[in-house]
Amino acid sequence: MDSSTSPGKFRVPTMAGLVFPIEGTSQEIAVNGNDPPPEFFVKESAFGPVGSSPPMIPIPVIDLSLLSSETELEKLRSALTSWGCFQAMGHGISSSFLDKVREAGKEFFSLPMEEKQKCLRAACEGEGFGSDVVVSKQQVLDWCNRLFLMVFPEDKRRLNLWPETPNDFGETLIEYTMKIRSVMDVVFKATARSLKLEEDVFLKHFGEKTVMQARFNYYPPCPRSDMVLGLKPHSDKSGITVLLPDQEVEGLQIFKNNEWSRVPTIPHALIVNLGDQMEIMTNGIMKSPLHRVTTNPEKMRVSVAMLIEPDPEEEIGPADGLVDEERPKLYKTMKNYGHLNYVCFQKGVVAINEVKM
Ligand code: OGA
Ligand code: NI
Repeated sequence: MDSSTSPGKFRVPTMAGLVFPIEGTSQEIAVNGNDPPPEFFVKESAFGPVGSSPPMIPIPVIDLSLLSSETELEKLRSALTSWGCFQAMGHGISSSFLDKVREAGKEFFSLPMEEKQKCLRAACEGEGFGSDVVVSKQQVLDWCNRLFLMVFPEDKRRLNLWPETPNDFGETLIEYTMKIRSVMDVVFKATARSLKLEEDVFLKHFGEKTVMQARFNYYPPCPRSDMVLGLKPHSDKSGITVLLPDQEVEGLQIFKNNEWSRVPTIPHALIVNLGDQMEIMTNGIMKSPLHRVTTNPEKMRVSVAMLIEPDPEEEIGPADGLVDEERPKLYKTMKNYGHLNYVCFQKGVVAINEVKM
């Protein structure tokens, strides 16, 4: 497609800019509505072509306010063992507050590039505004800019990278993080109960030094959405990820039974998915789903992912109660899994396979 005919270029002029790093340098350049440079094109993929439009399959819906009932708990167990994710209703966060969080992200991304660059990440660091760090020559770039911020532990916050516009950005993010933390706690406890384990078997790994990060994702319109992904196939490094998807524009796809399926957007539901560290802790009984994000030729998309993981210095491995003769330990015990996951992701390697016994 000729990019000059791309309507996205004209429809959202202030949102069309995308910065990305050039391999081997610390330089970032901006593309403005032009055809993506070759670094973005997905060449061959073990997971099928980019541009196909797979069926929309409703992932399970769980009402978090009903998890004291055995029926809902069984639905949760089934969702996490088969899909590794679900749409969460009954989470207790008001629709207006969810809209506020999304709007805070949109407002930041629509600032002029010079403003956003005040939050720019350092060349070799993940935190801040920009694109992902390039760790490999073969790395296919994602059509995405993100604002990645650590919210907990509190003393690790790098406030110099937090946006000043909108002016209540920080306050909103902290309040949102606390609310999402409660949602995560409910899921950790219910997941343990659904496996007939003590309620705190997973939760105890997410204590005082737990890491919580916010990832505001911005996917500009992409004139080559047939060849370019917003986010490459990956499974999350986290224990749990809670995603606030864009209200209007879908894009998230989940890989299950060797096929992609589009995830529908349910107004004001949160999408909860397990990350690799929960797959490891559940000894593979529950899944960390492989997912990707496609791009849209006309519309931009903004989502907010909250990730929680244990203190990187803490060893994690399969929970004792889930290892026996019939089900031997499937994963090694290790520290700092998050880093391994990131490097593997960028090389197109499935990280969790690297820690299988
Ligand atoms: C992520 C992610 C999905 C989305 O940030 O890890 O998978 O829909 N995001 O933006
Ligand atoms: Ni993800």
